[in-house]
Amino acid sequence: MDDTAQALIAAKRAAGYQAADMVQDGMILGLGTGSTVLYALERLSLRVREGLQVRGIPTSYQTARRAYEYGIPLTTLDEEPVPDLVIDGADQVDIRLNLIKGRGAALTREKCVAAAGLCLVIVIDEQKLVTTLSAPVPVEIIPFAIRPVMTRLESLGCIPVLRDGVKKDGPVITDNGNFIVDCGFDGVDNPKELETALAGIPGVVESGLFCCFTEKTTVIVGSKKKCKIITSADIVP
Ligand code: A5P
Repeated sequence: MDDTAQALIAAKRAAGYQAADMVQDGMILGLGTGSTVLYALERLSLRVREGLQVRGIPTSYQTARRAYEYGIPLTTLDEEPVPDLVIDGADQVDIRLNLIKGRGAALTREKCVAAAGLCLVIVIDEQKLVTTLSAPVPVEIIPFAIRPVMTRLESLGCIPVLRDGVKKDGPVITDNGNFIVDCGFDGVDNPKELETALAGIPGVVESGLFCCFTEKTTVIVGSKKKCKIITSADIVP
């Protein structure tokens, strides 16, 4: 592994561990999805073995399976509709703490859990912090409506691409049984407006734009040295 790859792993681990260290005894946790969150789970598993009492609501099969392997007790939104703290990753974070999520196709459950939680802690590495969001925006769509939704997405000014599976022929099927379309925009100047427009298309389940949680969001930007913490108090009006 080269130095850049090692530095990236160190950054993700540092952010994930710091998020796990914010967890207090008795908390109900939202457990996001992705490689950075897995480091938070690794650290949480150690703390649970040391006696920390928590229960986590997983946002994907990946997270549920890993939490089970790590001995982190799980629960559901039915049992615990208001998690105290949600730990999740992101694909990009802008200077207003708007997020693009969904590279791992878990965006819908992630958004449900983020919306339900009292606090949202986002763990990223430095490369994901941007001035303007520019990564493709993942959108979860029910298969029945894929054709008309693609047309509507094009009319919003993007190039929509149906995401293909890896080690599976044909499209990715989400944990909810739906398709994912990645929408490449030429920069997202008004993420909130775009999130609303996407939500208004019949057949769209959710988009990977997360613009409504900025007030309760803390971003931990991992690095080899000290992690940087960003909250809504740091947003320049
Ligand atoms: C899962 O669908 C995504 O929203 C992830 O949380 C996001 O892509 C971050 O993943 P990594 O930490 O693996 O980059």
